[in-house]
This record gives sequence, structure tokens and C-alpha cells, in this order.
Amino acid sequence: MASEPPQGGVLPLGAAIETRQLTKTYKSRALGKINVVDHLDLQVEEGEIFGFLGPNGAGKTTTIKMLLGIIYPSAGEGYVLGREIGDMDVHRVISYLPERPYYYEHMTGMEILKFYGALFGINDKDKFQRLLEKVNLAGDATKTISQYSKGMQQRIGLAQSLLNDPKLLFLDEPTGGLDPIAHTEIRDLILQFRDEGRTVFISSHELSEVERICDRVAIINKGKIERQGRLEDLLRGGRIEVIADGLNQGFADTVRAPESTVSFHNGRLIVDMSEEGDVNGLLDGIRDAKGQIISVVPRRRRLEDLFIETISEKKSGGEAA
Ligand SMILES: Nc1ncnc2c1ncn2[C@@H]1O[C@H](COP(=O)(O)OP(=O)(O)O)[C@@H](O)[C@H]1O
Ligand SMILES: [Mg+2]
Repeated sequence: MASEPPQGGVLPLGAAIETRQLTKTYKSRALGKINVVDHLDLQVEEGEIFGFLGPNGAGKTTTIKMLLGIIYPSAGEGYVLGREIGDMDVHRVISYLPERPYYYEHMTGMEILKFYGALFGINDKDKFQRLLEKVNLAGDATKTISQYSKGMQQRIGLAQSLLNDPKLLFLDEPTGGLDPIAHTEIRDLILQFRDEGRTVFISSHELSEVERICDRVAIINKGKIERQGRLEDLLRGGRIEVIADGLNQGFADTVRAPESTVSFHNGRLIVDMSEEGDVNGLLDGIRDAKGQIISVVPRRRRLEDLFIETISEKKSGGEAA
């Protein structure tokens, strides 16, 4: 990261969000001063889906509120679409779906869009209709929010968040508490947003929900970023398990894959090796020895595993828990 501050508050092209040592300190009677967001260096590039991941209480919502200018940082700085945080002009081109959006229960889906549209000076019935279609609520436009399922409420929230055609969306726990089908619907919509060229910043404590759609992630715990990077880089280092039949110990002794374990179970050879190892070479060797390949199964790392590793490394590293 370049350490020079951006000139005149303008960021180099490509950065949608950047923070430098962004910090929020709260005082609590029991614990004294605590940095609930602790010297955060965040980089989000334009056009990507960025996952801001961490357990409850990690500081995700507090960070989003600082980026939106809703609360003030205690220290550090941040830029959103090239503007210093707190510059309210940026709100014309960003939007925010809070963790638990509150809607008037007696309003219909269409009325919600009209109501929030009015706040942006938008009174375009065709646009409202298009947005309802986009989130698959056109058939439910005249139902009230009290008749909407949680997933439908989340979808009307996404429609609302598109009213100002934002370049950057902040979605705070957008899949929280939804059933699997509703999850998929929300995920598909978020992928569409990216295809439309928007940047999407998603916070979540449910890692498995976002790992399939994020380009890059930051893992935050107790206000600090523990890991940040491209998801595919962070999840590198998976294992592959090869199972084969019709081979003997003599063959097993010839297997020379680095970081591998070779064993027999019910007469079958099981090789557990690093994804980076020479899997093809092993398969050729099995065929040459007239063995029969039963299965080749990649065991990819999951974000969940990475997260647990990250947190426990931190603990064993002697840091205050
Ligand atoms: N206004 C506040 N005053 C004191 N502590 C707060 C305030 N807002 C949030 N916190 C504390 O900051 C920590 C981070 O909260 P939050 O950002 O909401 O976490 P997350 O969104 O990751 O679940 C929590 O421990 C929370 O209790
Ligand atoms: Mg939160």
C-alpha cells in the first residue's frame, strides 16, 4: 500500500473504498476505552464484490457507519469513491441496506419504492416497476410489508437500494436469517449488481453464505483485520485424496508426493496429498501398476476453516484473547 495520502482527497482510479488506520473507540464502564474498530486498513476495488467478514461484535457495522458518515471515526481516515468520509455528496452515488431494515408494515412494496424514491426526488413509476421486476416482486407490488416473508422484505430492501442507481452498495448482513432459497435469490441479485458494474460491500458473520460470490474478503475480529485478499489466494493450499484398488505395499512405498500420507483401508490405497503435488504423475503410476482408480476428490479449504485457523493462530500467538 502506498503510504502517501491521496492528493486533494482523490484516490487513484480503481479504489472504491480505502481506509488508513481507521479507528472507533468507545468507552464502557466495565472495560474502559475499547477500539471496536482498531486501525483498519481496508482496500476495496471498483467493480468487485467485497466480503467484510467476522463474528458478531467484530466491528463490521461500526465500520460501515463510519464509511457512510453516520458516525465519526476516533482516528484514522477513509475514502469512499475518492471522497473523504463525511462528504455527504457521495450519498448520491452510494446506497446502504442496514442490517435490520425497518419498514412501515402497512405500506405495500410499491409504496415503499415511491416513499424512498421521493427522498431522492425520483417519481418514476416505470422505474419502480422495473425495480420490482428485477427483485422478482412485480406480482407482490400491492401486498403490504406485513404480508411479505423475510426474504421478500430483503428483496424490497435491495430494490430500494437501487433507486439512486448507486455505484457502490453497502449491504450489512444481507442474508442474515434467511432460508436457503431466499439466500440464493439474494446472492443472484448481488452477482447481477456486479455485472452491472457496481461495487458491492457485504458484511456477514455467515462465512459460507458469501464465499461463493466474493472476489475479495477481509476477515475482521475484535476490530482488527486478520486477513485480507483475493478469496482464491486465501483458500489456496487444499488437499486431494486419491483412492485406488489392486495395489500392494510395494507400490505404496514408491509414492513420493510431498506433504502426503499413504495408507491402506479395506485393501484400498489412500493417498492424501497437497493440491500442489503431482496428482497426474500419481494417477499415471497407478495405471502403470495396473491399479484401478476409484476416486480423486479435491478437499478445498473453506472460508470457515481459514477463519477458524486465523482466529486460533491469533490466540496461540499470545495475543490478548
Ligand atoms: N454506540 C456504541 N457504544 C458502545 N459500544 C458500541 C456501540 N456500538 C457498537 N458498540 C460495540 O462495538 C462492537 C462492535 O459492534 P458492531 O460494529 O455492531 O459489530 P458487528 O457489526 O461486527 O456485529 C460491539 O462490541 C458493540 O457492542
Ligand atoms: Mg453488525
